[in-house]
Amino acid sequence: MPNLFDAITIGSLTCPNRIWMAPLTRGRGTRDHVPTELMADYYTQRASAGLIISEATGITVEGSGWPYAGGLWGPEHVSHWKTVTDRVHAAGGRIFAQLWHMGRIVHPSLHGVQPVSASATTAPGSAHTYEGKQPYVEARALALEEIPRLIGDYVSAARNAVEAGFDGVQLHAANGYLIDQFLRDGSNRRTDAYGGPVENRVRLLREVVAALVDTVGGGRTAVRLSPNGDSQGVDDSNQSVLFPAASAALNPFELAFLELREPGPDGTFGRSTRPAVAPLIRKVFKGPLVLNSDYDFTRATAALASGAADAITFGRKFLANPDLPRRFKEGLPLTADDPKTWYSQGAEGYTTYSPAPP
Ligand SMILES: Cc1cc2nc3c(=O)[nH]c(=O)nc-3n(C[C@H](O)[C@H](O)[C@H](O)COP(=O)(O)O)c2cc1C
Repeated sequence: MPNLFDAITIGSLTCPNRIWMAPLTRGRGTRDHVPTELMADYYTQRASAGLIISEATGITVEGSGWPYAGGLWGPEHVSHWKTVTDRVHAAGGRIFAQLWHMGRIVHPSLHGVQPVSASATTAPGSAHTYEGKQPYVEARALALEEIPRLIGDYVSAARNAVEAGFDGVQLHAANGYLIDQFLRDGSNRRTDAYGGPVENRVRLLREVVAALVDTVGGGRTAVRLSPNGDSQGVDDSNQSVLFPAASAALNPFELAFLELREPGPDGTFGRSTRPAVAPLIRKVFKGPLVLNSDYDFTRATAALASGAADAITFGRKFLANPDLPRRFKEGLPLTADDPKTWYSQGAEGYTTYSPAPP
């Protein structure tokens, strides 16, 4: 069985280790969602990750609802992401773009657009906006005739990602965002071909993935799911049926990998008393499986040794330890992350975490 320092090949890309960086929204772009030089510094510092998965990156204005998050719909997004990917590659790294449509989590104060979702529902709680926290508003249900346009939006963003030099794309189908809103019966009340039975609720995921694979290739396409329990008010009445079925539906595409975010009962970023669905998914999903949430070196090593996972993504540990693979390898102490600077602007708590001294 492999360990964290063994290489792994996904598609035609060889990752030199299995210590990957999880997608992390950090809000250091411009108000027009254009990546900045500071973002290039931040990702370059973390180039020793086996693979970097970028922060969630909006595919369209309609799908973007996070202040200062990156976007991938215009030429200025492409040219500035190109600076990021060129610098990551020059530093010896690899980077996928996480493609994001937030669905009902988008707040209209950002761009003046009413959010869309599977059904007319409202997320609980409040949104991060430029004017502080504001309650979510009711989304409108996407019309059946709009689905081809939506799939086209994912395709354009994926094309832009490749033009911007990303090594691949990860469809964000987790954490209560648009694809997840279609997957789970708590938020999907449709009565057409995209609602009702599991097979119908998986349809949008399958169609978007098929279109991404046509555009960039299966080996350059990945998916992220968050099966066990509620995410931003999105939940399912039978997670152990839905998510293995969704994962099995991805097999024909020979994806680069499938990543699962599954916090446990003591989770420190989200918490769930529901069992992880990963063991069931491992049995039916044929490609590389990547696990996430609250992993440390010991747990991650055990997950690989037992055959439960092929790689592990680390979020907050990579945020605060740009040289995480070396720290693991040499048993060096880890720096703790500071939640106050997760989404703040500027370099503080972003590019100011130093590598361990030589
Ligand atoms: C500051 C911050 C930003 C995050 N942004 C994203 C994101 O853009 N996309 C995503 O899928 N998950 C996001 N997450 C979730 C992380 O990818 C990861 O699932 C979570 O941090 C748990 O992993 P960890 O225990 O290794 O940190 C974010 C988490 C944090 C702390």
